[in-house]
Amino acid sequence: MLQALHETIEYIKRKTNNFEPEIGIILGTGLGGLVSEIEVEYSLMYANIPSFPISTLEFHSGKLIFGTLQGKKIVAMQGRLHYYEGYSMQQITFPVRTMKFLGIKQLFVSNAAGSLNPEFKKGDLMVICDHINLQPESPLRGRNDEDMGPRFPDMSQPYNRQLISRALNIAAEHNITCHKGVYIAVTGPNLETRAEYRYLRIIGGDAVGMSTVPEVIVANHMSIPVFAISVLTDEGFPEELQPVSLDEILETAREAEPKMTKILSQLIATL
Ligand code: HPA
Repeated sequence: MLQALHETIEYIKRKTNNFEPEIGIILGTGLGGLVSEIEVEYSLMYANIPSFPISTLEFHSGKLIFGTLQGKKIVAMQGRLHYYEGYSMQQITFPVRTMKFLGIKQLFVSNAAGSLNPEFKKGDLMVICDHINLQPESPLRGRNDEDMGPRFPDMSQPYNRQLISRALNIAAEHNITCHKGVYIAVTGPNLETRAEYRYLRIIGGDAVGMSTVPEVIVANHMSIPVFAISVLTDEGFPEELQPVSLDEILETAREAEPKMTKILSQLIATL
């Protein structure tokens, strides 16, 4: 992997005139709009970056964007990769390793998720304070490279406390409903049955989604502080479960996105 990373970094540095981002951002389903707030300097298609997996989803555009947001130099992934697309966990998290080698000091992640907590309604936001990994494999499985991080990384506080509390303050200042909760990562791509939503709630989840946790594990492995936020796009309440389509999920993400963008950009301004 190190060899592949060096090639990738070499390519990116050449194409971006040695741009050195301080902050990494991964934008989730229907949540690419933060990009319009970025003063974009360079934009690279995943397809052209050596070793980068190509997003197979038409609604994920697959670009690595370099520029400035709130005066900070950032690199943003517009379009992320999911396990259900068929990639290995190593492929999904390769961009996080890349961003670390480019110099990021913090990682910001967004996603669309289903609510499991009856108090958390469709269209609300949820800052992730902890997670449960129900995906079948850790991205750290296999030989460990001690130069990247420890064999058994600590996960007692995978999401940065200070960033969580700042984000909740920013949300309150702007009258944005923003909860704090536990995210459960599943494989997908199918949504959950009633019985599964019930189970996920019982085991301690507030929201469920198909992403984020692999990237967060790898960021923690490399000691990068993480902030992650979910847009709750549907309600997985077993007693009143309604069929939900991708279009509805994308529509809700689009509607809620300006609130999330506000929190992320204000939060980045405080750094
Ligand atoms: N379940 C899993 N993933 C999701 C959901 C859901 O209800 N909504 C958005 N992503």
